[in-house]
Amino acid sequence: MTDTRTALVTGAARGIGAATARRLARDGYRVAVLDLSEEAAEGTAAAIREDGGDAVSVGADVADEDAVTTAVAHVAQTLGPPTVLVNNAGILRDNLLFRMTTADFDDVLRVHLRGAFLMSRAVQAHQVEARWGRVVNLSSTSALGNRGQANYAAAKAGMQGFTKTLAIELGPFGVTVNAVAPGFIETEMTRAVAERVGVPFEELLAAEAKAVPVRRVGQPDDIAAAVSFFASEEASFVSGQVLYVAGGPRG
Ligand SMILES: NC(=O)c1ccc[n+]([C@@H]2O[C@H](COP(=O)([O-])OP(=O)(O)OC[C@H]3O[C@@H](n4cnc5c(N)ncnc54)[C@H](O)[C@@H]3O)[C@@H](O)[C@H]2O)c1
Repeated sequence: MTDTRTALVTGAARGIGAATARRLARDGYRVAVLDLSEEAAEGTAAAIREDGGDAVSVGADVADEDAVTTAVAHVAQTLGPPTVLVNNAGILRDNLLFRMTTADFDDVLRVHLRGAFLMSRAVQAHQVEARWGRVVNLSSTSALGNRGQANYAAAKAGMQGFTKTLAIELGPFGVTVNAVAPGFIETEMTRAVAERVGVPFEELLAAEAKAVPVRRVGQPDDIAAAVSFFASEEASFVSGQVLYVAGGPRG
């Protein structure tokens, strides 16, 4: 990279987002760490700065249009125009269809899909101006269908259509758009699943690992590595793709 570029990672206070923010900082990007609260995001930003990187923390709800506009403008001013965007923020509201509330459905689609839409629309202005950019969206193996996740599966399948469409629209401006679809990753999100179903987390991890061809669950750094590839200069001819990172061929 000739000039240092700015990457913005949503939901980066912890888990996959935090690992991705740290990885992109090691790759040489300035990194905006965005999460619901600036205080939560600051932990990751501080860790990046301690490692010698350049990072700011930003508090915003990705599904709040005004907050997104303000956040992206703030990042552009303090770190430089964001040209790499990782749409990672996400929530779960699992339930079987007959028990799923309308709020469970709306909340999940709101954060994943509306959030990715608002963030991408705000960031594309900077990418188009720079005639260069990368968008990486977080999908999931759940896009293929998963019991108890009608809302989340719809959102994560939606992320794939969103990815392919942005790849077509933004390609002429030097912007690639791809998705990473993780399998089971050890994070607070999956810890919460264990709590909800009343299984000790270690037991859930062991059971999940048995079902994965490489016989382990994923770690946040496994996903960060895939995002790093899509964000790289070398990946400039790869666009509109969905990479399943799941320890096996699911997808
Ligand atoms: N953990 C897995 O097994 C797994 C598998 C497939 C896909 N994913 C996806 O990867 C992404 C990260 O997952 P994770 O396991 O690290 O989750 P996590 O729950 O550990 O972290 C998600 C982060 O997103 C933030 N967030 C939630 N709503 C937000 C909003 N409206 N605005 C801004 N930030 C918000 C949370 O505060 C949190 O810091 C999600 O999109 C998730 O759906 C995770």
